[in-house]
Amino acid sequence: MKAVRIHQPGGPEGLVYEDAPEPYAGVGDVVVRVHAASFTPGELDWPVTWVDRGGRDRTPVVPAHEVSGVVTAVGYGTTGLRVGDRVYGLTDRHRDGAAAEYFSAEARDLAVLPDTVTHVAAAALAMPGLTAWQALFTHGQLRPGQSVLVHGAGGGVGTLAVQLARDTGAHVIGTGRGAHRDVAIEAGVHEFVDLDQRRFEEAGRADLVFDTVGGDVLARSGAVVRPGGTLVSISAPPPAVSGGRAVYFIVEPDRTQLTELADRVRTGRLRPFVGATFALPDARQAFFAKQRSGVPGKIVLKAVDDD
Ligand SMILES: NC(=O)c1ccc[n+]([C@@H]2O[C@H](COP(=O)([O-])OP(=O)(O)OC[C@H]3O[C@@H](n4cnc5c(N)ncnc54)[C@H](OP(=O)(O)O)[C@@H]3O)[C@@H](O)[C@H]2O)c1
Repeated sequence: MKAVRIHQPGGPEGLVYEDAPEPYAGVGDVVVRVHAASFTPGELDWPVTWVDRGGRDRTPVVPAHEVSGVVTAVGYGTTGLRVGDRVYGLTDRHRDGAAAEYFSAEARDLAVLPDTVTHVAAAALAMPGLTAWQALFTHGQLRPGQSVLVHGAGGGVGTLAVQLARDTGAHVIGTGRGAHRDVAIEAGVHEFVDLDQRRFEEAGRADLVFDTVGGDVLARSGAVVRPGGTLVSISAPPPAVSGGRAVYFIVEPDRTQLTELADRVRTGRLRPFVGATFALPDARQAFFAKQRSGVPGKIVLKAVDDD
């Protein structure tokens, strides 16, 4: 089969489209014919990308752990999924990813995808949907009527967080670059702060601040958390918040949440934002495109031209 691989730690320039061994369905695994896959900006910079769970080098590596496709084989003892099921999810970063024609993953990291949700939409939904859900509800304990400040509101995670927060009945302020204003408004922000033009502190305090940007934005965010409120970060561990909580977390696969998210897409309550699609052999250009500022939402790699 063909896969996109990288043979030593480094940036997207090392990605090559080449022959690779067929994946194997171990105990609890499924093999999936990949239809669409997506990746997280910066994932090639993460130490976890290059090693197995024992910390041993596992190059060459297949990137992109956000996937949608069809189950083609089921491992010994695997329950919950069958050959032919349409599935999507976020898979173990210590294993090969989905920038390939086929890949294997633990079945528990995948959920059945409704027929009316496209593979491209599902690949764009998996990581941002789970991350936004866990940030707002698991760690941020968001309730109706509260206020939320979402930094990076036009990004992959940000666009989902804005929609989920708005749907909950929160007042949502989004921040980001001016080029992403329209996407953030489409996602549902009540107010948008162009960080190149204004300081977000001028928008007031919020019960929950969700930071997807990091750096100076994260460093200044504790000061706009209301007393008793929470700062949730996915970019880096945040500084302590005076009178509130500060949380950093790594998104976890969760089949129940994936099922709920896909159902919201099916019923039109939620929409993943796809900023661009690339054919699988062009993965290197796709990674470079996301590194450059300006592509809103997610970039999706299409392994099958069916959506
Ligand atoms: N901890 C976890 O489990 C977890 C999970 C998912 C993602 N992440 C991390 O979270 C971050 C966001 O992920 P994502 O997929 O949402 O990325 P993304 O699609 O690139 O979204 C980030 C958004 O923030 C904007 N932004 C970045 N720097 C900015 C700045 N200085 N001023 C204004 N806007 C800025 C980006 O705009 P431009 O495109 O114009 O730069 C983009 O709209 C990444 O660092 C990712 O690695 C962590």
